[in-house]
Amino acid sequence: MFKVIVAGCGSIANKWLANLTARDDVQIVALVDPVRENALAHKERHELPCRVFPDLAQALAETQASLLIDTTPPAMHEEIVVRGLESGLDVFGEKPMADSMQAARNILAAVDASGKRYFVMQNRRYLHGIQTLRQTIESGVVGAPYHVFVDMRLGAHFTGFRNEMEHPLIIDMAIHTFDEARYLLGDARAVSAYCQEYNPPHSWYRGAAAADCIFEMNSGSIFLARLSWVSRSENTSSHGKWHVSCTEGAALWDGYGRVSVNVAQALPENRSYYEEEGILSDVSLCTAGREEHDGCLDDMFSALLSDQSMQTDCHNNIHSLAMVHACLESSKTGRKVYL
Ligand SMILES: NC(=O)c1ccc[n+]([C@@H]2O[C@H](COP(=O)([O-])OP(=O)(O)OC[C@H]3O[C@@H](n4cnc5c(N)ncnc54)[C@H](O)[C@@H]3O)[C@@H](O)[C@H]2O)c1
Repeated sequence: MFKVIVAGCGSIANKWLANLTARDDVQIVALVDPVRENALAHKERHELPCRVFPDLAQALAETQASLLIDTTPPAMHEEIVVRGLESGLDVFGEKPMADSMQAARNILAAVDASGKRYFVMQNRRYLHGIQTLRQTIESGVVGAPYHVFVDMRLGAHFTGFRNEMEHPLIIDMAIHTFDEARYLLGDARAVSAYCQEYNPPHSWYRGAAAADCIFEMNSGSIFLARLSWVSRSENTSSHGKWHVSCTEGAALWDGYGRVSVNVAQALPENRSYYEEEGILSDVSLCTAGREEHDGCLDDMFSALLSDQSMQTDCHNNIHSLAMVHACLESSKTGRKVYL
């Protein structure tokens, strides 16, 4: 039985609690939030007979927990995760693993010193669309990938801590997209980053709500992400619209339920070179496993139960976070940054 403390009782905690309360090997022993009403609201909604605490130290001292769930805002992750690890708990936490690289390295040091696990929620690796796209690329049907493009245009009216951040899009959301690009390319890592962040004139955010980013990956591919939270037309899915150019065509995901391939054809003699176009066909969606938070949590629990690692372990996930912070540095200095 996992005895679980949930720290941070805001909006995303709902998804976690819905999953955790459906498991018969989990007992929620405490909810922690400095805003007591937030913790009480979850206690009531999920009908939890657990205690409520204003801070984690007290919850750790007064319960016999074995697993900590961290769903606090990014700036709190280092403090919460390190405290949990040092108290002998394994930790599952929300992305991004930290709000700075130094904080992430401190967490890794605490993981290694404690011998405990810290798995990060990267739920988008568990979308059937991106899983199918990766399988399609790996099948080789369109050759080897060399250029990954994603467009994510949203009119996203988030409230709360994101409105106070200087870099809300890059720190809070781009991690998903960067991590997905790594996933598509077999967990490749970025070797360089160039980023231009900006806040369009009509933006409803205080900080930069749009960014264009170019990465060179150690797999040899270029990854290009055009991201906006303040788009007012032609919006994409929140997962973005993906186009992976490959040596024999392209693999595509519309960010919803459609994955397709465009297979290059030999150029007919009577056509000029710029008319080259492949043949488009849909790929059947792989539907194995649950999606999003449920899929990632299934993997986290089975890794913990079998004493194995899993793909969103902090030692892997820090390479996605490194892309975020390289973008911030590039945007600030106006220069390409080497990781
Ligand atoms: N994976 C996803 O798709 C996804 C989606 C949304 C949010 N998130 C992530 O989840 C995290 C939380 O986001 P949210 O939207 O739920 O935020 P939120 O503001 O709705 O909730 C955060 C909660 O944490 C509480 N909190 C603050 N400091 C705390 C502390 N020291 N101890 C305990 N509780 C504390 C706040 O009072 C609040 O109730 C962020 O890291 C965010 O990036 C992930």
